[in-house]
Amino acid sequence: MCGIFGYLGKKNSIKACLNGLKLLEYRGYDSAGIAAIKNNRLINFKASGKISSLEKKIHLKHLNLDIAIGHTRWATHGKANDKNAHPHFDEKKHIAIVHNGIIENYDVLKKDLKDKGFKFRSETDSEVIAQLLSKNYKNDLLETTIKTLTELKGSLAIALIHKNHPNEIVCATRESPLVIGFDDKKNEFLISSDLNAFLGRNLNVIFLKNDEIAHIKQKEIKVINLKKQIIFKKLEKLNSKNQNFSKKGFKHYLLKEIFEQPLTIQKAYLGRIFEEKGQVEFEHLNFTKSFLSQIDNIIITACGTSYHAALIAKTYFEEKANILTSAEIASEMRFKNLLVTPNTLVIAISQSGETADTIAALKLAKEKKAKTLSIVNVQNSTIARMTEESIFLKAGPERSVCSTKAFTSQITVLYLLAIYLARQRSMQKKEGMLFLKELKKTPNKVRKVLQISSLIKEKAKKYAKFENIFFLGRNLMFPTALEAALKLKEISYVNANAYPAGEMKHGPLALISQKVPVIAFLANKKTYDKMLSSLMEAKARGALILAFASKNSYGIEDIADDVIWLENTIDELSIFPSSVAAQLFAYFVAVIRKTDIDHPRNLAKSVTVE
Ligand code: AGP
Repeated sequence: MCGIFGYLGKKNSIKACLNGLKLLEYRGYDSAGIAAIKNNRLINFKASGKISSLEKKIHLKHLNLDIAIGHTRWATHGKANDKNAHPHFDEKKHIAIVHNGIIENYDVLKKDLKDKGFKFRSETDSEVIAQLLSKNYKNDLLETTIKTLTELKGSLAIALIHKNHPNEIVCATRESPLVIGFDDKKNEFLISSDLNAFLGRNLNVIFLKNDEIAHIKQKEIKVINLKKQIIFKKLEKLNSKNQNFSKKGFKHYLLKEIFEQPLTIQKAYLGRIFEEKGQVEFEHLNFTKSFLSQIDNIIITACGTSYHAALIAKTYFEEKANILTSAEIASEMRFKNLLVTPNTLVIAISQSGETADTIAALKLAKEKKAKTLSIVNVQNSTIARMTEESIFLKAGPERSVCSTKAFTSQITVLYLLAIYLARQRSMQKKEGMLFLKELKKTPNKVRKVLQISSLIKEKAKKYAKFENIFFLGRNLMFPTALEAALKLKEISYVNANAYPAGEMKHGPLALISQKVPVIAFLANKKTYDKMLSSLMEAKARGALILAFASKNSYGIEDIADDVIWLENTIDELSIFPSSVAAQLFAYFVAVIRKTDIDHPRNLAKSVTVE
């Protein structure tokens, strides 16, 4: 899940590429590179690591060029080093390409090219594209690209330049996102893996679909398909001139986004709650009333943090709306024999809207003719455009690889959706009013957690030295424990395992000792007593225990070594204070362990490869 960028226009193209790549860095930061055309020759710069290392290698003053392509890498094939960094070239260095995706038949193609005498410089699948383009090149870049695309299998978003075509960029896509932006006068064209690279601009944008090719020249753009038919693309307007990716004075994007949550939770329900009627309404949700009232099976599919939100929604939909619900890990669902009826609703949850596994699972649901709804943060994303209906989180851009505000906004929307469906079934107005009233108190309860961040920091100091930690919870607190463990894994590299507390005695308890602490979530009244007995079993085996508990709970202070007291709330909403407290805990442990919090190793923000 790399980030590709391209620029053709009047401004300094290499500078434009550097700025674009900085805004795409969360997609991968193993290595980066830029290629441009100067005096009919290809020039290029590559560096391992972040864009800042590449920037150090480029002296912009002498390089005021008007065409360039760039790439920031998340390694799939070949180590993270200069040799495997993009752009990649053909042997004669006439063509340069940048690629996001995986060429599934690259080894067969590479062998065939090698048999024809082609020499390769890197271990990547992407270099095969450059060599194939060179083999197919007959002075026409478009013809060359069409021929080459028909030989490639797998997912790809590419942009390419040729030294003999100094005013042309060709880009194409298949199963990988690619968007093109340009100003009204077509003085400049920007190509990117996603809209984030256009932040701070007002542009016309078009999204390329599978096997569409865009041919960009000075002041003109043409989009065709593999049959060379002209495709008329719907222009969308991007107005993000006033948006920026500043950290607003916080040290890391992660901390900034954690502290945004009182506001983002509110934004997720504003205009959707009609408390006096105990009702919920979603703008632009156009499923028919009859379908909504007859849904008898909900299948939620997602990955990572979004999957943890799906697990929580399963309980919401089953307990509030009495609808049979399954939460499916997308990368597994795609291999299932999915059972769908006319009254099945498939919901895809995704912050980025670009996660390849979720896209593949959604494709399966569509093949089975299921009704589809997406809950996404990025409007115009692939998943938003794939489903019949969408509900947007309105959380604003989430830059940190470690998702936080999107998670609490997902829970807010899913909670609202459960009440929306329940009110079309047996839930009475009074009950609806109560649940909505409680939700509106949540931003303040989260604010209270942010106010005890220094206390959480103190606790983090005590637990940061441990390499293995168990996270325990029951019922809604189990997915809360899963999410808390994932945060700690992602940014502090602690081997954090989450378990339903009742499961410990069936095996994992064997790992408990003074070296393996337990972090427990007890803010659920329904499971509180049972949680206490599970913790006593762990305590009896010498475990250090840190508990996240509601202020009105008793007994835990006698078992746990440390307790972080959270605002009381109803069980359904106890996830919010618990999750935000756990996010802060993970953050402070990572600060103490000195990890690169905004660029966690081996990860990237949106996972666009399967
Ligand atoms: C969460 O912190 C991770 N970045 C990751 O697990 C993420 O939730 C997962 O890749 C799904 O991403 P999505 O919500 O954009 O689809």
